[in-house]
Parts: sequence; C-alpha cells; structure tokens
Amino acid sequence: MGGNPPRKAVESFTKHTKNLKVDSVLDLGAGTGAIGYHLRNDAKYEGALDIMDANMEMLYIASKKNLNLRNIFRHWVERELPVRDASYDVLFCVGSFIPNHVPISSIPGMSKCVRKGGLLIFSTRVHSTEEYKSEFDDVLTNMERQGAIKRLDMIEFVHFANAEKKINSAVYVYEKL
Ligand SMILES: C[S@@+](CC[C@H](N)C(=O)[O-])C[C@H]1O[C@@H](n2cnc3c(N)ncnc32)[C@H](O)[C@@H]1O
Repeated sequence: MGGNPPRKAVESFTKHTKNLKVDSVLDLGAGTGAIGYHLRNDAKYEGALDIMDANMEMLYIASKKNLNLRNIFRHWVERELPVRDASYDVLFCVGSFIPNHVPISSIPGMSKCVRKGGLLIFSTRVHSTEEYKSEFDDVLTNMERQGAIKRLDMIEFVHFANAEKKINSAVYVYEKL
C-alpha cells in the first residue's frame, strides 16, 4: 500500500545519529506511539523518551505499549511548547503536520526545545495540501536563512498508493544550529 512515515522517520534517525549522543527524545503529535515503537524496537534507542499529544485516548494507548516512556504530556500544540529550551537531543513530529492539526506556527517553538547540534525530524505530505505545505516550506526556509537550522536530508516516498492515485510524503531532517 505504501510507506510507513514513522518507520521512515526512525530510519532517518538511525542514519543521522551515528555520531551524535542522544539521551533525550520528544515525540510530538505522538498519537498511539508509533515513533516510540520503532525507536525502541528498530533503532534500539534506550534513552529518555517523552511523548506529547492533544488526544488523551491516543496517549493512553501509547502508554500501554511498553515503550518505557519518561513523560507523557497532554498538550494542544499551538506555539511555544511547555518544556525547557534546549532540553532535547531529538524532536520528532511525524504524521501530524496536517491542516487543522499541528500548526506551522509551532515550528520555531519546536526548534527552541532542541539543543544545538540536535535534530528535528518531521514528516508531511508533499502534494495533497498545497497551501499548508507552502507555509511549511516557507517557515523552514526562513529559519534556515536566519541560521537557526540546517537541512541535512529529505526523503520522499509513496505514503498511500492505489490504482487511482498516489500520495507522497517526505521525511525531513534538520540540524539545530
Ligand atoms: C495522524 S496522527 C500521527 C500520530 C503518529 N505521530 C504517527 O505517525 O503514527 C496525528 C496526531 O497529532 C495529534 N495532534 C493534532 N493536532 C495537534 C495539536 N495541535 N497538538 C497536539 N497534538 C495534535 C493528534 O491527536 C494525533 O494523535
């Protein structure tokens, strides 16, 4: 049927953390904990893992998956995050950059909570939501121009495919400067 964004995002994590010390990860818009599942089982990540989501039921399901979670934050993300600046080595936001879900205005706040040299790993659909996608691109390009972040990678893949249409997603990896 197509690619699995959480698995692809964790493959990018593995690729880009070979020479990076990672002790703390925040998964934002974590849903039922798919990133945590792949981090623990595929990447064999053993450090601290916090998850954040607006939906209590999703968080409850994630809490039952034996992911050894440190903190579970129930929070509706709008702008600044309710965590300390530079408190994470890696932040994931995968599958949640969708119109009326996690707003683009929250990206600078996500960057603030990652330490210098740490990573931001995002996914979004490439073609289906043109306006939202161009806002996503604009904010990230501006942040790159301002020297806040640097893009290390972008991998595009077929997310859903059937006979009539294909929907592509992409995983982005940024370094916090
Ligand atoms: C499609 S799911 C993705 C879940 C998971 N990251 C994955 O890839 O399987 C989107 C998640 O984003 C959460 N979400 C949407 N808007 C949000 C917001 N503004 N603040 C926090 N969570 C939000 C939803 O509750 C949902 O769990």
